[in-house]
Amino acid sequence: MRTQVAIVGAGPAGLMLSHLLHLRGVESVVIDLRSRADIEETIKAGVLEQGTVDLMTRTGLGDRMQRDGFVHHGINLAFNGGIHRIDMHDLTGGRAVTVYAQHEVLKDLIAARLAAGGDLRFGISDTAVEGLDGDRPVVRFTHEGRREEIECDFVAGCDGSRTYTRFLIPEGEIRTDFFRQYPFAWFGILAEAPPSSDELIYAHSDRGFALISTRSPSVQRLYFQCDPEANPDDWSEAQIWDEIQQRVAGAGATIKTGTIFQKAILQFRSFVCEPMQYGRLFLAGDAAHTVPPTGAKGLNLAVADVHVLDRALGAFYEAKDTGLLESYSRTVLRRVWRAQHFSWWMTSMLHRFSGATDFDLRRQIAELEMVTGSSSAARTLAENYVGLPLT
Ligand code: PHB
Repeated sequence: MRTQVAIVGAGPAGLMLSHLLHLRGVESVVIDLRSRADIEETIKAGVLEQGTVDLMTRTGLGDRMQRDGFVHHGINLAFNGGIHRIDMHDLTGGRAVTVYAQHEVLKDLIAARLAAGGDLRFGISDTAVEGLDGDRPVVRFTHEGRREEIECDFVAGCDGSRTYTRFLIPEGEIRTDFFRQYPFAWFGILAEAPPSSDELIYAHSDRGFALISTRSPSVQRLYFQCDPEANPDDWSEAQIWDEIQQRVAGAGATIKTGTIFQKAILQFRSFVCEPMQYGRLFLAGDAAHTVPPTGAKGLNLAVADVHVLDRALGAFYEAKDTGLLESYSRTVLRRVWRAQHFSWWMTSMLHRFSGATDFDLRRQIAELEMVTGSSSAARTLAENYVGLPLT
């Protein structure tokens, strides 16, 4: 088999890259270890930056998002006995976020690729990549019991945080990993319940952080900070609702409860690998970087990476220009580090750290007062939350 770009991983980065390349007439094959059903059903985050929304709309992926997604013009910060709204729309000159679940984006991408005759191979195993330092790399894998081989010009490593492709970049001499672990996690639930708020609530409290998000008029997504070792089965429905309620009660919010149909613990890590390119291999999305979920940046960063990679590959195929490919890693890492900072900032402003003293809590409240009381501080949060423009 021969293609132009072999894409390892059918998540947001890999599928969006394949879609964008197709629109400019560049061929790709996408492979993934998981089944299509697994990819389309795994619950992840659900906030799309304005740039992601615009790109989806511009490239023909906007129909279901426009119908089923919810445009949010603001977010709420709950702390110290009150709820304070950040009007992102006003503060950013009309930008907003859209709440639309990641697995719905993936369904849209898979449908678009298949409708266009795209080559997607699910449920593959034993991936091996060779020849990255030449100009004809090869990707080998097993699919439906047969050993397959793709010869290509480029390999895109889009295989998420459990990546294989990142490790093809030799550690030490070429690759450096930057890593931070947080001493807490999020307990996430999906519940059949009406929304408790028109817009998301990020809550700071003495008991720790809570986030009230949504999925639809009848399904809500809520999270609360927990011990990374917590076991979801140890928590009854009543205990979960009680814990969330207690974390927002001080600010005057009331949570509407319902049947919880999904519970999971989300680990908290910040991670970046540099560089994101090695020979003919280009990493994108979680294969190269992970952010804590507080800033809702994960999917959006993956999309921003492949937006740059698509243009760089376009310049190569259309004009034999390798300049954008050479600067790919440097270009995308600037945005990655901005998002790392933002996610770390939101996380540290809103969570309770073990060993935190009353001094630390009061300092956090002062910071939240600055963010909600000063229009320039609020604008900083809003600009980053709705997302920097795609470069
Ligand atoms: C979500 O709805 O899953 C969500 C929203 C905002 C975040 C993280 C996750 O910051």
